[in-house]
Amino acid sequence: MNHSPVEPVSDDLWTVMSTATAVRRYRDEAVPDHTLQKCLTAASWAPSGGNGQPWRFVVLDSPELRALVTIAAQRTWEVMKDFYRLPDITDGADDPKSRTLRTMAEHMRVGGGAPALVLFCVQPQRGTTELQQGGSIFPAVQNFLLAARSQGLGAAITLWQDACDAELREAVGIPDGWKIATLLTVGWPKGRHHRVRRKPLAEVAVQDRWDRPWTPASAGLSASSAPSTQR
Ligand SMILES: Cc1cc2nc3c(=O)[nH]c(=O)nc-3n(C[C@H](O)[C@H](O)[C@H](O)COP(=O)(O)O)c2cc1C
Repeated sequence: MNHSPVEPVSDDLWTVMSTATAVRRYRDEAVPDHTLQKCLTAASWAPSGGNGQPWRFVVLDSPELRALVTIAAQRTWEVMKDFYRLPDITDGADDPKSRTLRTMAEHMRVGGGAPALVLFCVQPQRGTTELQQGGSIFPAVQNFLLAARSQGLGAAITLWQDACDAELREAVGIPDGWKIATLLTVGWPKGRHHRVRRKPLAEVAVQDRWDRPWTPASAGLSASSAPSTQR
């Protein structure tokens, strides 16, 4: 992995996209409304089917809702631990997998105590598949994440809401028929921003045939702007 420092704040789209990793550890510092507003505005600029914008972005801030998120996160951790048969995370192992696991465990322990929480809800449009419904909310999520990263914030997509779906619906007053797509935790990162680690483009971009790698006639992305790390 490339550990070269990355700028904490950036208006350069390539820098932002290539360093918008999931951030799960936050400083104990509030996210100012004007910063959150920029993220929410970016979310509201996303495309959606027929420009229907069938979304609500619910900022969760009351102690009751935060407590509910903590319960959801902790329930998720219990299920995850059993499902993946996770090893003891207190054994102090220092390999990347153990570190990520400890970070995830800590993220779920803190749960609703994250500096900011945003629930992304979508109203399924008539005749759409679940995949298409996701297509009318996850671009908004991604816009939010990029705006957050651009301002130096960190954020993580979570599916914790599934563990408290009925309680959250009731407490927020989510109308019947709407779905909760994701719950984002947001805050100022405790650590530094890093480059994303992804499969090489040659492994995922093909031309005409599934097994024929797409090869550029001439390099489009410069070496400095393309993500330099691979998974
Ligand atoms: C649909 C979806 C669900 C995810 N759910 C969770 C989650 O419940 N908890 C979590 O910590 N991260 C979650 N993530 C974040 C991914 O784990 C993360 O994006 C992925 O491991 C890549 O890591 P990176 O973003 O740091 O490069 C989710 C991401 C997506 C797209």
